[in-house]
Amino acid sequence: MIAFNEICKEIIYTDNYQKMKNYRHHGNVSCYKHSIRVAYLCYKYYMKKKPNYDIYEFIKGALLHDYYLYDWHNKGEGHRLHGFRHPKFALKNAKRDYVVTELMEDIILHHMFPLVPTLPRSKAAFIVSIMDKKAGFYDYKRKKKRV
Ligand SMILES: [Fe+2]
Ligand SMILES: [Fe+2]
Repeated sequence: MIAFNEICKEIIYTDNYQKMKNYRHHGNVSCYKHSIRVAYLCYKYYMKKKPNYDIYEFIKGALLHDYYLYDWHNKGEGHRLHGFRHPKFALKNAKRDYVVTELMEDIILHHMFPLVPTLPRSKAAFIVSIMDKKAGFYDYKRKKKRV
């Protein structure tokens, strides 16, 4: 069994990824905390269901799904239509900073389904889009404490 941290360590300890701790995402939850939460839900799902796609690509895609690197709450910084546009920004940053496979690209680009009405191409991307909503629910539930 592969440990969660073993899969994440290449990504989460880099400077840019650590910057996500400073970007508020849902409520008071940081983009960092939210992304780790999504990835961990995906990890638990993978360990239970043991699907036939690669766990590294699955979890790394989940970690990078919101890698857009700004605080969308800051008005006047041109973050219009953030909900629709951020998957593309996240993919661009992810490709600049890491190796991004086709599966990871699908995960990042389509995680906002159905708000962004482009269907995920793979089951893995579909699962991440579900875990993203689940994590979002937890984020708002615990919004009193900054994490
Ligand atoms: Fe997102
Ligand atoms: Fe998200």
